[in-house]
Amino acid sequence: MQNGKKPIGIFDSGYGGLTVLREIVKELPQYDYIYLGDNARAPYGTRSFETVYEYALECVEQLFSMGCELIILACNTASAKALRTIQQKDLPRIAPEKRVLGVIRPTTEIIGKYTKTKHVGVLGTTGTISSDSYPIEIKKLYPEFVIQQEACPMWVPLVENNEFESAGADFFIQKNLNSLLSKDNQIDTIILGCTHYPLLLNKIKKHVPPYITLISQGEIVAKSLADYLKRHTEIEQKCSKGSNIGFYTTDSPDNFNKAASIFFGGAVKSKHLDMNH
Ligand code: DGL
Repeated sequence: MQNGKKPIGIFDSGYGGLTVLREIVKELPQYDYIYLGDNARAPYGTRSFETVYEYALECVEQLFSMGCELIILACNTASAKALRTIQQKDLPRIAPEKRVLGVIRPTTEIIGKYTKTKHVGVLGTTGTISSDSYPIEIKKLYPEFVIQQEACPMWVPLVENNEFESAGADFFIQKNLNSLLSKDNQIDTIILGCTHYPLLLNKIKKHVPPYITLISQGEIVAKSLADYLKRHTEIEQKCSKGSNIGFYTTDSPDNFNKAASIFFGGAVKSKHLDMNH
């Protein structure tokens, strides 16, 4: 993929970002992409601020070294805990002309289109929820909105361990949704603030009342990226257009290929990348 190509980098701690890549490729099929899943060190959701930042920065530097000019952190946990520092402290030092974007801002921007009651629920990893990134960003745009959050620490492990269709998944999904909805009975919109959660969508739907709108991020992030590239022609011109996708994992490619095809919705052939050097 190097060979002078400048793919758009899509990064996640594991498989979740593939739900975003899938929508990005539908929206913008003309570009080259590199997906990097840090499966060997997933999940990130329960790790400290410092650790998530350190891992995410390493992966960003890796994607830069593979030719990426633009990277999407397709991971809410990394967007919540590492994006701002990478943008403000690291980019000016290591690659001032390159860009790293996250998934939280585009999601909060569209939330006003969905809620009528202005009472919104947010589900995410412990890291994303404890960072308060969603309430902070939503309040900047919609100060009057009432936000309730719920950390769902078991949901990513269920997905990463291929247990997302199991009865165990129902148990934890129902438990966390009941807890969220018991905090505020006016919630009419729930943000699935973790890129792994679209895989649990069928089960989530079973456990929420039908009047609640569930917001998945893939399409939103894809449309926001298309808009960004229109507004930033200096970046857009650098992105190579060959419709190639390279998949990389920090863990076993065989395991990755099997699970990744479910998330991506098509065959995946990945290569191993070692981050511990
Ligand atoms: N997919 C990541 C997110 O959107 C979280 C996964 C993890 O805990 O590693 O937050």
